[in-house]
Amino acid sequence: MATERIIIGISGASGFQYGYKALELLKPLAHIETHLVISKGAQLTRQYETDISEADLLALADVVHPIENLGASIASGSFKTRGMLIAPCSMRTLASVAHGFSDNLLTRAADVILKERRRLVLMVRETPLHLTHLDNMRKVTEMGGIIFPPVPALYHQPQSVDEIITHSTARALDLFDIDLNIKRWEGK
Ligand SMILES: Cc1cc2nc3c(=O)[nH]c(=O)nc-3n(C[C@H](O)[C@H](O)[C@H](O)COP(=O)(O)O)c2cc1C
Repeated sequence: MATERIIIGISGASGFQYGYKALELLKPLAHIETHLVISKGAQLTRQYETDISEADLLALADVVHPIENLGASIASGSFKTRGMLIAPCSMRTLASVAHGFSDNLLTRAADVILKERRRLVLMVRETPLHLTHLDNMRKVTEMGGIIFPPVPALYHQPQSVDEIITHSTARALDLFDIDLNIKRWEGK
């Protein structure tokens, strides 16, 4: 039976696969209940950048919340979770979180995580970055969030894009004390 909840937010930056991979990695862990919220932008990137069907995606999550539902459980701090991973995190969603707009369920859930001082990890994806992007990352960091751009690690000598995505996603999940079986640097 699940004893812990984690929220996975997927927004419309390139790299829909990171959020999908997080759900895939968490699916076998019986003690973790996943709550998924997907932005409209992410539905576009899913269609433009991947072959993943909406049904495939929804089947991976334990609970799926419509982005418009500001009355969802995850919109309240009284609903206890371990935290939230936004993977990938667009610059629009980053800006909304940095300024506390809570303008949809995804950004409201992130706002709740920050106010409750729980773990918030943003897999921000944009390049290059202008000053407002950087400033918004600074603001979220000052509020206790973690900026985690999915920069590939090459020390594990990945052989495929899937290996790169798996490694970055598992490293982001490390930040929730979720230990997945990935190649780690053991020293030389
Ligand atoms: C194919 C595609 C790729 C995109 N890649 C990025 C990206 O890497 N980073 C980003 O910040 N926005 C990107 N965008 C733009 C966002 O989807 C757009 O700003 C959207 O309004 C974000 O809204 P959301 O944060 O609610 O998903 C991309 C859009 C498309 C269609």
